[in-house]
Amino acid sequence: MPTMKEAIVYGDPLTVEIVDSPIPTPGDNEVLIKVEVSGSNPKDWKAPLYSKRPHNSGDDIAGTIVAVGKFVLEFRPNDRVAALMGSRHGSFAEYAIAYAYTTFHIPDSVTFEEAATIPLTSLTAAYGLWDILGLPTPWRPATDDIPLLIYGASTSVGTYAIKLAKLAGIRPIIGVAGSGAHTALEAGADFVVDYRNNLDIAGSIRAHLTEGQRLLYAWDTVSEGGSYQHAIKACEPGLGLHRSIKAVEPVLESKLCLILPEGQGKFDDIDKTKTKFGIARVASAHGEDAARRDFAYIFYRQITKWLQEGKFAAHPFDVVEGGLAGVAKGLNELKDGKVSGSKNIFRIRDTPGL
Ligand SMILES: NC(=O)c1ccc[n+]([C@@H]2O[C@H](COP(=O)([O-])OP(=O)(O)OC[C@H]3O[C@@H](n4cnc5c(N)ncnc54)[C@H](OP(=O)(O)O)[C@@H]3O)[C@@H](O)[C@H]2O)c1
Repeated sequence: MPTMKEAIVYGDPLTVEIVDSPIPTPGDNEVLIKVEVSGSNPKDWKAPLYSKRPHNSGDDIAGTIVAVGKFVLEFRPNDRVAALMGSRHGSFAEYAIAYAYTTFHIPDSVTFEEAATIPLTSLTAAYGLWDILGLPTPWRPATDDIPLLIYGASTSVGTYAIKLAKLAGIRPIIGVAGSGAHTALEAGADFVVDYRNNLDIAGSIRAHLTEGQRLLYAWDTVSEGGSYQHAIKACEPGLGLHRSIKAVEPVLESKLCLILPEGQGKFDDIDKTKTKFGIARVASAHGEDAARRDFAYIFYRQITKWLQEGKFAAHPFDVVEGGLAGVAKGLNELKDGKVSGSKNIFRIRDTPGL
Protein backbone atom coordinates (compact mmCIF):
# COMPACT_ATOMS: atom_id res chain seq x y z
CA MET A 1 0.00 0.00 0.00
CA PRO A 2 1.49 3.41 -0.97
CA THR A 3 2.23 5.65 1.98
CA MET A 4 2.67 9.36 2.68
CA LYS A 5 4.15 11.57 5.37
CA GLU A 6 1.61 13.02 7.77
CA ALA A 7 2.00 15.31 10.80
CA ILE A 8 0.15 14.28 13.97
CA VAL A 9 -0.40 17.17 16.38
CA TYR A 10 -0.31 16.53 20.14
CA GLY A 11 -2.05 19.01 22.42
CA ASP A 12 -0.14 18.96 25.69
CA PRO A 13 2.68 19.65 25.26
CA LEU A 14 2.10 21.04 21.75
CA THR A 15 4.35 18.80 19.68
CA VAL A 16 4.19 17.13 16.28
CA GLU A 17 5.13 13.64 15.18
CA ILE A 18 5.67 12.90 11.49
CA VAL A 19 4.42 9.42 10.63
CA ASP A 20 3.98 7.26 7.55
CA SER A 21 0.28 6.72 6.76
CA PRO A 22 -1.51 5.03 3.86
CA ILE A 23 -2.50 7.43 1.08
CA PRO A 24 -6.29 7.73 1.54
CA THR A 25 -8.91 6.92 -1.07
CA PRO A 26 -11.68 9.48 -1.76
CA GLY A 27 -15.29 8.55 -1.03
CA ASP A 28 -18.05 9.05 -3.62
CA ASN A 29 -18.38 12.81 -2.97
CA GLU A 30 -14.77 13.49 -2.06
CA VAL A 31 -11.55 14.45 -3.79
CA LEU A 32 -7.97 13.37 -3.08
CA ILE A 33 -5.60 16.34 -3.20
CA LYS A 34 -1.79 16.34 -3.41
CA VAL A 35 -1.10 19.05 -0.86
CA GLU A 36 1.36 21.69 -2.05
CA VAL A 37 0.78 24.14 0.80
CA SER A 38 -1.11 23.80 4.06
CA GLY A 39 -2.48 26.73 5.98
CA SER A 40 -2.91 26.79 9.76
CA ASN A 41 -5.51 28.08 12.19
CA PRO A 42 -5.75 28.45 15.99
CA LYS A 43 -8.07 25.45 15.94
CA ASP A 44 -5.17 23.25 14.83
CA TRP A 45 -3.54 23.42 18.26
CA LYS A 46 -6.80 23.77 20.22
CA ALA A 47 -8.57 20.68 18.84
CA PRO A 48 -5.87 18.15 19.80
CA LEU A 49 -5.55 19.85 23.23
CA TYR A 50 -9.25 20.00 24.14
CA SER A 51 -10.21 16.67 22.58
CA LYS A 52 -7.12 14.99 24.09
CA ARG A 53 -6.88 13.22 20.74
CA PRO A 54 -3.66 13.67 18.77
CA HIS A 55 -4.46 13.97 15.06
CA ASN A 56 -3.65 15.67 11.77
CA SER A 57 -5.62 18.81 12.58
CA GLY A 58 -4.84 20.93 9.50
CA ASP A 59 -7.89 22.25 7.63
CA ASP A 60 -6.61 24.54 4.88
CA ILE A 61 -5.51 22.69 1.75
CA ALA A 62 -3.98 24.04 -1.47
CA GLY A 63 -2.76 21.65 -4.13
CA THR A 64 -3.74 19.57 -7.14
CA ILE A 65 -6.45 17.00 -7.62
CA VAL A 66 -5.18 13.43 -7.79
CA ALA A 67 -8.42 11.45 -7.84
CA VAL A 68 -12.15 12.08 -7.45
CA GLY A 69 -15.07 10.03 -6.14
CA LYS A 70 -17.69 8.68 -8.51
CA PHE A 71 -20.24 11.47 -7.88
CA VAL A 72 -17.78 14.34 -8.34
CA LEU A 73 -18.53 16.28 -11.51
CA GLU A 74 -16.49 19.47 -11.47
CA PHE A 75 -12.92 18.40 -10.68
CA ARG A 76 -10.38 16.42 -12.68
CA PRO A 77 -6.83 15.23 -11.94
CA ASN A 78 -4.25 18.05 -12.01
CA ASP A 79 -6.83 20.79 -11.36
CA ARG A 80 -5.39 23.48 -9.06
CA VAL A 81 -7.63 23.75 -6.03
CA ALA A 82 -8.00 24.89 -2.46
CA ALA A 83 -10.26 23.16 0.04
CA LEU A 84 -11.59 23.06 3.55
CA MET A 85 -10.81 19.64 4.89
CA GLY A 86 -13.82 17.44 5.73
CA SER A 87 -13.75 14.95 8.55
CA ARG A 88 -10.70 12.83 7.76
CA HIS A 89 -7.16 13.21 6.49
CA GLY A 90 -6.28 16.83 7.16
CA SER A 91 -3.92 19.19 5.40
CA PHE A 92 -0.73 18.45 7.37
CA ALA A 93 0.21 15.66 4.96
CA GLU A 94 1.37 14.91 1.45
CA TYR A 95 -2.20 14.01 0.46
CA ALA A 96 -5.51 15.13 1.94
CA ILE A 97 -9.21 14.40 1.46
CA ALA A 98 -11.95 17.04 1.10
CA TYR A 99 -15.58 17.02 0.11
CA ALA A 100 -16.05 18.30 -3.45
CA TYR A 101 -18.46 20.99 -2.28
CA THR A 102 -15.85 22.57 0.01
CA THR A 103 -13.20 22.38 -2.75
CA PHE A 104 -12.80 25.21 -5.24
CA HIS A 105 -10.63 25.98 -8.25
CA ILE A 106 -7.85 28.54 -7.94
CA PRO A 107 -6.97 30.68 -10.96
CA ASP A 108 -3.42 30.60 -12.34
CA SER A 109 -2.89 34.12 -11.00
CA VAL A 110 -3.23 32.83 -7.42
CA THR A 111 -0.35 30.92 -5.82
CA PHE A 112 -0.81 27.83 -3.68
CA GLU A 113 0.62 29.86 -0.79
CA GLU A 114 -2.10 32.50 -1.19
CA ALA A 115 -4.81 29.91 -1.69
CA ALA A 116 -3.87 28.06 1.51
CA THR A 117 -4.86 31.10 3.58
CA ILE A 118 -8.42 31.21 2.28
CA PRO A 119 -10.70 28.22 2.98
CA LEU A 120 -11.51 28.12 6.72
CA THR A 121 -11.43 31.73 7.77
CA SER A 122 -13.08 33.25 4.68
CA LEU A 123 -16.08 30.94 5.09
CA THR A 124 -16.26 31.75 8.81
CA ALA A 125 -16.26 35.45 7.94
CA ALA A 126 -19.05 34.93 5.41
CA TYR A 127 -21.22 32.93 7.82
CA GLY A 128 -20.85 35.78 10.30
CA LEU A 129 -21.79 38.57 7.90
CA TRP A 130 -24.61 36.92 6.05
CA ASP A 131 -25.91 34.02 8.11
CA ILE A 132 -25.69 35.55 11.58
CA LEU A 133 -25.81 39.31 11.01
CA GLY A 134 -28.02 39.18 7.91
CA LEU A 135 -26.15 42.08 6.29
CA PRO A 136 -26.42 43.02 2.60
CA THR A 137 -24.55 40.72 0.26
CA PRO A 138 -22.48 41.36 -2.87
CA TRP A 139 -25.50 40.06 -4.80
CA ARG A 140 -27.77 42.65 -3.18
CA PRO A 141 -25.39 45.34 -1.97
CA ALA A 142 -26.09 48.05 0.58
CA THR A 143 -27.60 51.22 -0.80
CA ASP A 144 -27.21 53.33 2.37
CA ASP A 145 -24.50 53.67 5.00
CA ILE A 146 -24.48 50.71 7.38
CA PRO A 147 -21.75 51.14 9.99
CA LEU A 148 -20.13 47.81 10.82
CA LEU A 149 -17.74 47.06 13.66
CA ILE A 150 -15.16 44.32 13.06
CA TYR A 151 -13.67 43.57 16.46
CA GLY A 152 -10.42 41.74 15.74
CA ALA A 153 -9.89 43.44 12.39
CA SER A 154 -6.41 41.99 11.85
CA THR A 155 -7.40 38.40 12.56
CA SER A 156 -7.68 36.23 9.51
CA VAL A 157 -11.47 35.98 10.01
CA GLY A 158 -11.67 39.73 10.58
CA THR A 159 -9.76 40.77 7.47
CA TYR A 160 -11.82 38.46 5.29
CA ALA A 161 -14.96 39.90 6.90
CA ILE A 162 -13.74 43.37 5.93
CA LYS A 163 -13.04 42.30 2.33
CA LEU A 164 -16.43 40.60 1.98
CA ALA A 165 -18.29 43.49 3.60
CA LYS A 166 -16.61 45.87 1.14
CA LEU A 167 -17.81 43.72 -1.74
CA ALA A 168 -21.32 44.12 -0.30
CA GLY A 169 -20.98 47.90 -0.26
CA ILE A 170 -21.08 48.09 3.53
CA ARG A 171 -19.55 51.21 5.01
CA PRO A 172 -18.13 52.64 7.15
CA ILE A 173 -16.17 49.67 8.49
CA ILE A 174 -14.63 50.36 11.88
CA GLY A 175 -12.02 47.83 12.96
CA VAL A 176 -10.38 47.13 16.30
CA ALA A 177 -6.80 45.87 16.11
CA GLY A 178 -3.36 46.25 17.64
CA SER A 179 -0.06 45.83 15.84
CA GLY A 180 -1.85 44.30 12.86
CA ALA A 181 -3.79 47.49 12.13
CA HIS A 182 -2.07 47.88 8.74
CA THR A 183 -3.51 44.52 7.63
CA ALA A 184 -7.01 45.70 8.50
CA LEU A 185 -6.53 48.98 6.65
CA GLU A 186 -5.10 47.20 3.60
CA ALA A 187 -8.13 44.90 3.65
CA GLY A 188 -10.37 47.95 3.43
CA ALA A 189 -11.29 49.06 6.95
CA ASP A 190 -12.21 52.75 6.95
CA PHE A 191 -10.93 53.29 10.50
CA VAL A 192 -8.98 51.21 13.00
CA VAL A 193 -9.16 51.66 16.76
CA ASP A 194 -6.20 50.41 18.80
CA TYR A 195 -7.34 48.22 21.69
CA ARG A 196 -3.97 48.37 23.44
CA ASN A 197 -3.72 50.70 26.44
CA ASN A 198 -7.15 52.03 25.52
CA LEU A 199 -9.36 52.79 28.51
CA ASP A 200 -12.39 53.64 26.37
CA ILE A 201 -12.48 51.30 23.39
CA ALA A 202 -16.24 51.79 22.92
CA GLY A 203 -15.84 55.57 22.92
CA SER A 204 -12.96 55.35 20.42
CA ILE A 205 -15.17 53.26 18.13
CA ARG A 206 -18.14 55.62 18.41
CA ALA A 207 -15.88 58.61 17.69
CA HIS A 208 -15.74 57.41 14.07
CA LEU A 209 -19.51 57.64 13.58
CA THR A 210 -20.85 60.77 11.99
CA GLU A 211 -24.08 62.42 13.03
CA GLY A 212 -27.06 60.25 12.22
CA GLN A 213 -25.03 57.07 11.77
CA ARG A 214 -26.10 54.25 14.08
CA LEU A 215 -23.82 51.36 14.88
CA LEU A 216 -26.05 48.31 15.02
CA TYR A 217 -23.83 45.54 13.66
CA ALA A 218 -20.71 44.03 15.18
CA TRP A 219 -18.70 40.97 14.12
CA ASP A 220 -16.47 40.03 17.04
CA THR A 221 -13.80 37.66 15.71
CA VAL A 222 -12.05 37.57 19.08
CA SER A 223 -14.91 36.94 21.55
CA GLU A 224 -12.72 36.75 24.62
CA GLY A 225 -10.84 39.01 26.99
CA GLY A 226 -13.63 41.60 27.13
CA SER A 227 -13.98 42.06 23.37
CA TYR A 228 -17.73 41.58 23.06
CA GLN A 229 -18.43 43.73 26.10
CA HIS A 230 -16.62 46.58 24.32
CA ALA A 231 -18.50 45.81 21.11
CA ILE A 232 -21.89 45.84 22.86
CA LYS A 233 -21.04 49.09 24.62
CA ALA A 234 -20.07 50.65 21.29
CA CYS A 235 -23.32 49.67 19.60
CA GLU A 236 -26.40 51.85 20.05
CA PRO A 237 -26.74 51.68 23.81
CA GLY A 238 -30.14 50.87 25.28
CA LEU A 239 -32.03 50.54 22.02
CA GLY A 240 -33.36 47.12 22.85
CA LEU A 241 -36.98 46.13 22.37
CA HIS A 242 -38.03 47.02 25.92
CA ARG A 243 -36.58 50.49 26.00
CA SER A 244 -38.04 51.60 22.72
CA ILE A 245 -41.64 50.49 23.16
CA LYS A 246 -42.89 54.04 23.54
CA ALA A 247 -40.37 55.62 21.27
CA VAL A 248 -41.50 57.35 18.12
CA GLU A 249 -38.35 56.21 16.36
CA PRO A 250 -38.29 52.68 14.94
CA VAL A 251 -37.32 49.81 17.20
CA LEU A 252 -33.61 49.26 16.91
CA GLU A 253 -31.81 46.20 18.07
CA SER A 254 -28.10 45.71 17.70
CA LYS A 255 -26.81 42.47 16.27
CA LEU A 256 -23.60 40.82 17.34
CA CYS A 257 -21.82 37.89 15.77
CA LEU A 258 -19.50 35.96 18.05
CA ILE A 259 -16.94 33.27 17.47
CA LEU A 260 -16.04 30.33 19.69
CA PRO A 261 -12.42 30.92 20.58
CA GLU A 262 -12.14 27.96 22.94
CA GLY A 263 -14.48 25.48 21.30
CA GLN A 264 -17.28 26.39 23.69
CA GLY A 265 -18.84 29.55 25.01
CA LYS A 266 -21.90 30.49 26.99
CA PHE A 267 -21.99 34.27 26.69
CA ASP A 268 -24.51 34.32 29.59
CA ASP A 269 -23.61 37.90 30.47
CA ILE A 270 -25.13 39.31 27.26
CA ASP A 271 -28.50 41.06 27.74
CA LYS A 272 -30.57 39.40 25.03
CA THR A 273 -33.25 42.11 25.21
CA LYS A 274 -30.72 44.59 23.86
CA THR A 275 -28.35 42.56 21.76
CA LYS A 276 -29.36 39.85 19.40
CA PHE A 277 -26.41 37.55 18.94
CA GLY A 278 -25.37 34.43 17.12
CA ILE A 279 -22.23 32.38 16.84
CA ALA A 280 -20.44 31.71 13.56
CA ARG A 281 -19.31 28.11 13.35
CA VAL A 282 -17.30 27.01 10.35
CA ALA A 283 -17.98 23.39 11.32
CA SER A 284 -21.55 23.92 10.14
CA ALA A 285 -20.16 23.56 6.58
CA HIS A 286 -20.00 19.87 7.36
CA GLY A 287 -22.97 19.67 9.72
CA GLU A 288 -26.53 18.40 9.58
CA ASP A 289 -28.05 21.56 8.14
CA ALA A 290 -28.15 21.26 4.35
CA ALA A 291 -28.55 25.04 3.96
CA ARG A 292 -25.22 25.68 5.70
CA ARG A 293 -23.54 23.12 3.44
CA ASP A 294 -25.07 24.75 0.36
CA PHE A 295 -23.91 28.16 1.61
CA ALA A 296 -20.35 26.79 1.67
CA TYR A 297 -20.71 25.31 -1.82
CA ILE A 298 -21.97 28.56 -3.34
CA PHE A 299 -19.58 30.77 -1.40
CA TYR A 300 -16.48 28.87 -2.52
CA ARG A 301 -17.52 28.99 -6.17
CA GLN A 302 -17.97 32.72 -5.85
CA ILE A 303 -14.51 32.96 -4.28
CA THR A 304 -12.99 31.37 -7.41
CA LYS A 305 -14.71 33.99 -9.55
CA TRP A 306 -13.73 36.90 -7.31
CA LEU A 307 -10.11 35.70 -7.26
CA GLN A 308 -10.12 35.50 -11.05
CA GLU A 309 -11.59 39.00 -11.31
CA GLY A 310 -9.12 40.39 -8.80
CA LYS A 311 -11.93 41.39 -6.45
CA PHE A 312 -10.77 39.22 -3.58
CA ALA A 313 -7.29 38.59 -2.24
CA ALA A 314 -5.56 36.25 0.18
CA HIS A 315 -4.53 37.03 3.74
CA PRO A 316 -0.85 37.94 4.28
CA PHE A 317 1.21 34.86 5.16
CA ASP A 318 4.55 33.66 6.50
CA VAL A 319 6.07 30.45 5.18
CA VAL A 320 7.37 28.46 8.15
CA GLU A 321 10.57 26.60 7.30
CA GLY A 322 10.70 22.83 7.18
CA GLY A 323 7.30 21.92 5.72
CA LEU A 324 5.65 19.34 7.98
CA ALA A 325 8.68 19.58 10.28
CA GLY A 326 7.76 23.23 10.84
CA VAL A 327 4.18 22.57 11.95
CA ALA A 328 5.10 22.44 15.65
CA LYS A 329 6.89 25.80 15.44
CA GLY A 330 4.07 27.38 13.44
CA LEU A 331 1.34 26.23 15.80
CA ASN A 332 3.31 27.19 18.91
CA GLU A 333 3.66 30.72 17.50
CA LEU A 334 -0.12 30.83 17.05
CA LYS A 335 -0.69 29.54 20.57
CA ASP A 336 1.73 32.08 22.03
CA GLY A 337 -0.05 34.97 20.28
CA LYS A 338 3.03 35.74 18.15
CA VAL A 339 1.13 35.81 14.85
CA SER A 340 -0.22 39.26 14.00
CA GLY A 341 -2.15 40.11 10.85
CA SER A 342 -0.76 37.08 9.07
CA LYS A 343 -1.14 33.33 8.64
CA ASN A 344 1.53 30.68 9.13
CA ILE A 345 1.67 28.31 6.18
CA PHE A 346 3.74 25.22 5.33
CA ARG A 347 5.12 24.14 1.94
CA ILE A 348 4.91 20.37 2.07
CA ARG A 349 7.84 19.92 -0.34
CA ASP A 350 10.09 21.66 2.24
CA THR A 351 9.69 18.66 4.56
CA PRO A 352 13.13 17.05 5.07
CA GLY A 353 13.38 13.73 3.25
CA LEU A 354 10.65 14.44 0.71
N1 LIG B 1 -15.88 28.81 15.75
C1 LIG B 1 -15.34 28.78 14.55
O1 LIG B 1 -15.91 28.22 13.62
C2 LIG B 1 -14.02 29.47 14.30
C3 LIG B 1 -13.53 29.59 13.00
C4 LIG B 1 -12.35 30.32 12.80
C5 LIG B 1 -11.68 30.85 13.88
N2 LIG B 1 -12.17 30.67 15.14
C6 LIG B 1 -11.52 31.30 16.30
O2 LIG B 1 -11.59 32.69 16.04
C7 LIG B 1 -10.44 33.35 16.55
C8 LIG B 1 -9.77 34.11 15.41
O3 LIG B 1 -9.24 33.18 14.46
P1 LIG B 1 -8.24 33.67 13.34
O4 LIG B 1 -7.71 32.49 12.63
O5 LIG B 1 -8.88 34.73 12.55
O6 LIG B 1 -7.12 34.29 14.27
P2 LIG B 1 -5.67 34.88 13.93
O7 LIG B 1 -5.66 35.49 12.57
O8 LIG B 1 -4.63 33.87 14.22
O9 LIG B 1 -5.63 36.00 15.05
C9 LIG B 1 -4.45 36.73 15.30
C10 LIG B 1 -4.88 38.14 15.56
O10 LIG B 1 -5.63 38.22 16.77
C11 LIG B 1 -5.66 39.58 17.10
N3 LIG B 1 -6.08 39.78 18.49
C12 LIG B 1 -5.71 39.08 19.58
N4 LIG B 1 -6.32 39.58 20.70
C13 LIG B 1 -7.06 40.64 20.29
C14 LIG B 1 -7.92 41.56 20.95
N5 LIG B 1 -8.09 41.50 22.28
N6 LIG B 1 -8.55 42.50 20.23
C15 LIG B 1 -8.38 42.58 18.89
N7 LIG B 1 -7.58 41.73 18.19
C16 LIG B 1 -6.93 40.77 18.88
C17 LIG B 1 -4.23 40.00 16.86
O11 LIG B 1 -4.29 41.35 16.51
P3 LIG B 1 -3.07 42.39 16.67
O12 LIG B 1 -1.83 41.68 16.27
O13 LIG B 1 -3.47 43.49 15.73
O14 LIG B 1 -3.07 42.83 18.10
C18 LIG B 1 -3.77 39.10 15.70
O15 LIG B 1 -3.63 39.80 14.47
C19 LIG B 1 -9.58 32.24 17.16
O16 LIG B 1 -9.90 32.15 18.53
C20 LIG B 1 -10.05 30.97 16.45
O17 LIG B 1 -9.85 29.80 17.21
C21 LIG B 1 -13.32 29.99 15.37
